[in-house]
Amino acid sequence: MRDKIREIEKSAVEEITLAVDADALEKARVKYLGRKGLVTELFKNMSGVSPADRAEIGKLINALKETVSKALDEKTPVLSGGSDSGAQKTDITLPGIIREIGRLHPISKTIEEICGVFISLGFKVVEGPEIENEHYNFEALNIPLEHPSRDAFDTFYLNDKWLLRSHTSPVQARFMETNKPPFAIIIPGKVYRPDATDASHSFMFHQIEGLVVSDNIRFSDLKGALTLFARQMFGENTRMRFRPSFFPFTEPSAEVDISCILCSGDAAQRAPHKCSLCGGKGWIEILGAGMVNPKVFRNVGYNPEKVTGFAFGMGVERIAILKYGITDIRMFFENDIRFLRQF
Ligand code: DAH
Repeated sequence: MRDKIREIEKSAVEEITLAVDADALEKARVKYLGRKGLVTELFKNMSGVSPADRAEIGKLINALKETVSKALDEKTPVLSGGSDSGAQKTDITLPGIIREIGRLHPISKTIEEICGVFISLGFKVVEGPEIENEHYNFEALNIPLEHPSRDAFDTFYLNDKWLLRSHTSPVQARFMETNKPPFAIIIPGKVYRPDATDASHSFMFHQIEGLVVSDNIRFSDLKGALTLFARQMFGENTRMRFRPSFFPFTEPSAEVDISCILCSGDAAQRAPHKCSLCGGKGWIEILGAGMVNPKVFRNVGYNPEKVTGFAFGMGVERIAILKYGITDIRMFFENDIRFLRQF
């Protein structure tokens, strides 16, 4: 009897393990646990077992029944969905669920890239409020009362005193009021101007401001930093041009151009077909800059006899447009996934 029990266990486990579909499994179930099954037979034969062995044999048969049931239970989900079960079968040939990995918006990416260049030069990233007051947006920066940008039509005023900042320059004044030189900071952020939206204008865009103040900062330091930036951003062969300009918060001031990234400012390329990017000029304006005006230092409590500095401000969208060859600024803000996916 004991041998028989062992034999049945061995063959049952083997058959269940090797069952290739739900049908085979069901057959095994009937063969062993069915009403006329082999395990059931064993129970029926108990009457022929001597009373001395009965308890032990009974236990062995019960254990066998349990082993077979367990083996069947474990195998069932693996084979579920067999021809007659009606349950759903996993189709392992179906493509998996693709989880798309997010990515940075091209503007965030450009901000990170620009800041990265300056961070490598030792600059620290600083931010400031987008709702600004007249003092920091204008007065502290030596922008006079009659300046057109102070007009309600040129700025988003919230009330008499507060407005959406029209540039990142006010953060210069905020930072200087609470920090002592020497320092080198870079200030990324959103700015607002009530421009009618078109391919090259948006009422909101991003700027990056730079400010370096120490005891002996010269215009050549500004040139060096910006030249390095332009080469890292647009390629080793990029040339720079500084044109005299005017900003109330810098003196002297300059508008800074890079050699055209499409035609390289190459005369042969410019004629007879004018370059579509620079219009044949060979140069593209990328930012405004200058030496910090002594009046700005005085406004924040610095002694202009003791400190000098340079500042610059650039439009992030403009840099991204040039770098990636984008033709319309609105693409940055429409959230069209087909556009964003390319970055
Ligand atoms: N704030 C200026 C603007 O929005 C840009 C600018 C020009 C910033 C010269 C500067 C600078 O720091 O030195 O047009």
